[in-house]
Amino acid sequence: MKAFLNIRTFLLALSMIAISLLHYLTPLHLHYLHDIFQRLYYLPIILAAVWFGLRGGLACSLAVSFLYAPHILFQWGGHLTIEMEKYLEIVLYNIVGGVTGLLAQRERERSIQLQNTADGLEQSFKKLQEQSDQIIAIEKNLRSAEKLSTLGEMAAVLAHEIRNPLGSIRGTAEILRDDYRPGDAKYEFIDIQIKETERLNRVVEDFLRMARPSQIEKVPCSIQEELETVTTLVANDARQRHITLDLIPPKINTKIHGDGEKLRQAFLNIVINALQATPSGGSVCIASSKVRDGIEISFTDSGLGVTSENILRIFEPFFTTKSDGTGLGLAITKKIIEGHGGTARIVSVAGEGTTVLVWLPQAISGGAP
Ligand SMILES: Nc1ncnc2c1ncn2[C@@H]1O[C@H](COP(=O)(O)OP(=O)(O)OP(=O)(O)O)[C@@H](O)[C@H]1O
Ligand SMILES: [Mg+2]
Repeated sequence: MKAFLNIRTFLLALSMIAISLLHYLTPLHLHYLHDIFQRLYYLPIILAAVWFGLRGGLACSLAVSFLYAPHILFQWGGHLTIEMEKYLEIVLYNIVGGVTGLLAQRERERSIQLQNTADGLEQSFKKLQEQSDQIIAIEKNLRSAEKLSTLGEMAAVLAHEIRNPLGSIRGTAEILRDDYRPGDAKYEFIDIQIKETERLNRVVEDFLRMARPSQIEKVPCSIQEELETVTTLVANDARQRHITLDLIPPKINTKIHGDGEKLRQAFLNIVINALQATPSGGSVCIASSKVRDGIEISFTDSGLGVTSENILRIFEPFFTTKSDGTGLGLAITKKIIEGHGGTARIVSVAGEGTTVLVWLPQAISGGAP
């Protein structure tokens, strides 16, 4: 900015000196040239007024007056009428410098005011935008909370109304099954009945787990140990599906303050989903790393992936694309992770695979992993 000012001042000074030299060096009988030079002085005066406002305009017109006056006095001194006309021109220089400077200054002040108003409007707009984003997020959470509270009431009724008769059905079916041998058609039918009661029982369990306002008991626990238990639990399933299941040994301390049993449940839901989404010959890989003040656990599968549309709904209770799914697995996972002050998110490309990323804070760390 300063350099810019200096260049402008230099240009003005140069033009004034050049025009003055033309005046002093041009013989007087070439009066038509002098008329042109006389008007040329308006150029630096107007430029100075536009660039520097009232003060700039007046300073330049005064400088021009001082440069031009000796020329009138000493070179045109003999011609009174011409001399008077030229003095009048000097007065005009100063009027033009003053008036143009004043107008330019007012214009500049108004444009600064307009710019400030525009900046203010832009900031208000940004604030409004942020507030409306916040409102949308709160509304989304409320809707989810509303779903969960309805779910809580339903779960209590379901647990009471379904679990007890379910227990009787299962018990009596087991007694009936004892009358037949494995391989007998009736044995197989009763076995199906028992498995179906187990499935129903699981659904009720899931509802309850989701709805119960259970307390998270935070004690020192090792993420790696919980992940090992989860992989042991699903190893057989993975083998049957011909999926390679890898748990990478971590290079970091994975101890956190948390509820091991609940975290295990959260991780299990993710891994089961990964196995269900991965075709035979695929892989599921689990790894932990240090991210910010916590641990990030990644569950990567080479399965079907999730469409960008479904990604937005994946953690919603009851969202499922499976004919036998409850859509509660990831909702429970999210509730548990957030109960630990962590976050769960999903990155996926449909057709290429999915990574679920769980971050857990590691406020109080323990010993070696
Ligand atoms: N790793 C994954 N790859 C592809 N899709 C996934 C993956 N994990 C979750 N999904 C999608 O998210 C949906 C919701 O998952 P969630 O675990 O909440 O319920 P679910 O698996 O359908 O039912 P449930 O867990 O009760 O058996 C799934 O139906 C599936 O479409
Ligand atoms: Mg699931």
